[in-house]
Amino acid sequence: MTERTLILVKPDGVARGLTGEILRRVEAKGYRVTALSQMQATQEQLAAHYAEHEGKPFYAPLVDFMLSGPIVGIVAEGDRVIEGFRALAGSTEPTTASPGTIRGDLGRDWGEKVQKNLVHGSDSVESAEREIGIWFG
Ligand code: RTP
Ligand code: MG
Repeated sequence: MTERTLILVKPDGVARGLTGEILRRVEAKGYRVTALSQMQATQEQLAAHYAEHEGKPFYAPLVDFMLSGPIVGIVAEGDRVIEGFRALAGSTEPTTASPGTIRGDLGRDWGEKVQKNLVHGSDSVESAEREIGIWFG
C-alpha cells in the first residue's frame, strides 16, 4: 500500500479560512487526497491523538485549543508523504518556521501557552495508521 499520512487543519486554520490554501499546497506538491472531512473533535479523540504529550505544560491548552472550533481531517497519500508533508508544514513554532512552509508563510505567534500553528502532520508510519483510525474510524 502507498504511504499515507493524517493531516489536521487545526481550529485556527479553519477559522482563518486557510483550509483551501493548505489543501492547495498538498495537492500542488503532488499528493493525492483520499479522505476529507470537517469535524468537531471530541475529548476522547484528542486524548488518544495527543497521548504522547500528556503531562506536558502545553497539554491542557492544546486540548482546549483543539476543541475551540471545527477542524478538517485529511488523509493524503504518496511515496514519502509523511516526511513530505512535515516539510511542507515547517517547524512547530510559526515565528521561526521557514518562509515557504505553511507555518512560516501563514502562521505567527499569538502570545499563548500553546502554539497555534495551523496544521498537524503524522510523524511516522505507525502514528499515521493509528491517527487515521482515530479520525476516520
Ligand atoms: P503536530 O504534532 O501538530 O504535527 O506538530 P509538531 O509535531 O510540530 O509538534 P509536537 O511537538 O508534536 O506538539 C504538538 C502540538 O502542541 C502544540 N505545542 N505548543 N507552547 C508550546 O511550546 C507548544 N509546544 C507544542 C503545537 O500546536 C504542536 O503542534
Ligand atoms: Mg507531533
